[in-house]
Amino acid sequence: MLLPARARRRDRPALGENTGAAMPPRAFDVGSPSLWYQGQVQTALARAGGPLWLVRGRGSRVWDSRGHAYLDARSGLWAVLLGYGRDEIVAEVTAQLRALSFAPLTDAAAPVAEELAARIGALAPGDLASVALVPTGSEAVDTALKFARLFHYAGGDRRRRMIVSREYSAHGGTYAGLSLSDPDRGLLRGVGPGLRGVRFAPIPYRYRCRYCAEQPACTLACVGALEDVLVRAGPDRVAAVFAEPVPGPGGVIVPPDPYWPAVRALCDRHGVLLVADEVVTGWGRSGRWFACDHWDVVPDLLVLGKGMTAGYQTLGAVVTRRRIAERLAGRAVPHGFTYSGHPAACAAALAVLRILEDEHLVARAAHLGRRLLDGLRAELAGCPIVGDVRGIGLMAAVELVEDVRTRAPARLSARGLRRLEVDLRSRGVLCFVDNPVIVAPPLVVSDDELTRLVEAVGASVRGLAARRRGTRE
Ligand SMILES: Cc1ncc(COP(=O)(O)O)c(C=O)c1O
Repeated sequence: MLLPARARRRDRPALGENTGAAMPPRAFDVGSPSLWYQGQVQTALARAGGPLWLVRGRGSRVWDSRGHAYLDARSGLWAVLLGYGRDEIVAEVTAQLRALSFAPLTDAAAPVAEELAARIGALAPGDLASVALVPTGSEAVDTALKFARLFHYAGGDRRRRMIVSREYSAHGGTYAGLSLSDPDRGLLRGVGPGLRGVRFAPIPYRYRCRYCAEQPACTLACVGALEDVLVRAGPDRVAAVFAEPVPGPGGVIVPPDPYWPAVRALCDRHGVLLVADEVVTGWGRSGRWFACDHWDVVPDLLVLGKGMTAGYQTLGAVVTRRRIAERLAGRAVPHGFTYSGHPAACAAALAVLRILEDEHLVARAAHLGRRLLDGLRAELAGCPIVGDVRGIGLMAAVELVEDVRTRAPARLSARGLRRLEVDLRSRGVLCFVDNPVIVAPPLVVSDDELTRLVEAVGASVRGLAARRRGTRE
């Protein structure tokens, strides 16, 4: 939505400042909410005062119905790479909708879809070049799973059906996405069983590694464990390994440098496809176009979503390497959704790419990411409940512990987390409040906003530590 010109000129209050542009919040019906809030226990949300009514956004900030401004260090839900109110994107989307509001990606396409596919192919590493557009990241995960199995089937290898995923993973909300996500999240409770033939392997979580957390450097024992999972499944029965190069929602778990090349070599050794889910990390968030680029690894399938349209439209993609596209080209492939490659979404994605390039925002994410990490580490040094502060690009995590020596995870009640969230909001900041606390601002966050974000997170976490000691800060 475009703001009236006058409102646009008088924006930018300090974080948390009341603009006075209040609207009465609507009542939240606990018994039968008319709008269902995703991933929430609806009654708990009601007890916590109901949802945040967001009414407008500009730059990296959003305003609630009471007129309070927040720095959106969740980037919506990891999607809003370029902040809110980018008129260029709105103009491109509007022009496309005026010209052609729909083209079925079955036997037709708007030129923007072709143009976008060519641009993605040019940006993606190696020979990743063939692009299947879908409406969301979850549908991209689902499509990648089908492509991986079909690739082997089409090559005459009909036994390769199994998928190896990893602990701490999040792969979306479709049935396939939930089945591939870490079972410890309990996402299939009461819904399952999950898809058959999915196995889970450990990840290189240095801070909590069951193999080498105590060692001075990573021993890559988790790659051996991944191979064990493959071998136990029967290496000739596994279609693909699904993995986020850096699990974001799982805790911004940055692998040691040798990890990804070792996993690539392992997959090659066993004829297994490597699927990189970059729905969160892709499109510049990690400080490179794709997180795989940090380790010069080319996956067989690259899964994209979220940041592609920076939250202005909805779009996902699966990018495949040449040999996969060539093998599947002669077959009917059971993938496709009515809104795949919607012209307005493609126009938004092209506009987003242009802005990322013109404003050098990928390099900026790397640069500001270092500042974010250094800032959080300095701000929280010596805090008795902070065990680890880690990050890459503009995504960082603060892991809370009972005791920094034992690394026992902090026992945080829902009330304690809620209090932390309220405290952060009172300081004008939205971030992902759980353990770890995750911070992921838009790539356009200003230097000043970043400084205040670091201060706010530092103060809120120290406040939590003080409350846990039973003293005031
Ligand atoms: C790594 C990863 N993959 C896939 C998805 C699914 O994306 P979407 O919710 O846009 O369908 C998510 C969502 O959070 C994600 O974090």
